[in-house]
Amino acid sequence: MAPPPSFVRPTVREMEGYTPGEQPGAGERVVKLNTNENPFPPSPKVMQAIAAIEPEQLRRYPNATGEAFCQAAASMLDVGSDMILTGNGSDDVLAVAVLTFLSPGDTLAYPHPTYSLYPVMAELDEVKTAEVPWERDWSLPIDALLAAKPRAIFLANPNAPSATFVSPQRIEELCKKFDGLVLIDEAYVDFADDNCLPLVREYENIVITRTLSKAYSLAGLRFGYAVARADVIKEMNKARDSYPCDAVSVAAATAAVLDQEYARKTWEHVKSERNRVSSELTQMGWKVLPSHANFILASVPDGRGRDAYLGLKRQGILVRYFDKPGLSDKLRITVGTSQENNALIGGVKALTATEKAA
Ligand SMILES: Cc1ncc(COP(=O)(O)O)c(C=O)c1O
Repeated sequence: MAPPPSFVRPTVREMEGYTPGEQPGAGERVVKLNTNENPFPPSPKVMQAIAAIEPEQLRRYPNATGEAFCQAAASMLDVGSDMILTGNGSDDVLAVAVLTFLSPGDTLAYPHPTYSLYPVMAELDEVKTAEVPWERDWSLPIDALLAAKPRAIFLANPNAPSATFVSPQRIEELCKKFDGLVLIDEAYVDFADDNCLPLVREYENIVITRTLSKAYSLAGLRFGYAVARADVIKEMNKARDSYPCDAVSVAAATAAVLDQEYARKTWEHVKSERNRVSSELTQMGWKVLPSHANFILASVPDGRGRDAYLGLKRQGILVRYFDKPGLSDKLRITVGTSQENNALIGGVKALTATEKAA
């Protein structure tokens, strides 16, 4: 391949960029359990809100802060609407956080492994990273994080790809010892039993990010938000895009959070299927970490993660494989519909049968 153009920033030239999960082509029939999407369609009210968009809403620029969404989310979360910042997916909100809180040369620390976008964002802004290994039982390595002398700490909770959860009490211990930014990425929190929202009221250095991609079945829409003290959100507003969310996405996202009853039904289904898939895989000799998210991290019995990933792919089942230290014997599997999960379980059984025959 030709070298990158010389007029590109050296940082960008040298970086690899983020590798997203595979997206099958249009019309390709696969069981897609690789990018932690919600297996159900969005609420019918979301589709109605999109259908009701007037041409005038497209001709004009949208409301710059996504005010309608902020109002709806504020009443759902019982916070002020000035405590919410909207973004084009929570990835966008995370990028705004890096820009707002970290200068080139500062250190961003996070427990590792975690969401693989964090180092990419840091690198882009010439921020150093300290990847601090989780404790052996996936508990929060508070002292090691602080020892890195970071300016900010990011914590995905529940974490990806482990699906493990750190209690708000333990996170509060960190907040008591650290006065830099603590960003808690709650992309999967609706599938967990607790969350860190109450900490925002207690500590001014906490930012929580959330997304409508998972819990509200809107990954294709791109809508995420942050919750923090109003004075913190005010600063983040200076670092965001001028109109991060378009009129259609604001209307759809607002309808989604207003239909809690629908969303909650999807969460309950995912949680019960998560238990079923975890116990089926365990019975087949896989080790499954207790999951607090809409996916599981499972160790393949013979340790050959890549072979299992490829074997499932040949059967039309896509899961996520990370060729990284500590993860190469594992697969990250999104919880799907009952039918999709049956296909996965059947696929794993077929893998085992092929192995026995070989
Ligand atoms: C931990 C974590 N945070 C954030 C995101 C991004 O979510 P969004 O679709 O809102 O950009 C993901 C997506 O997979 C994730 O795993």
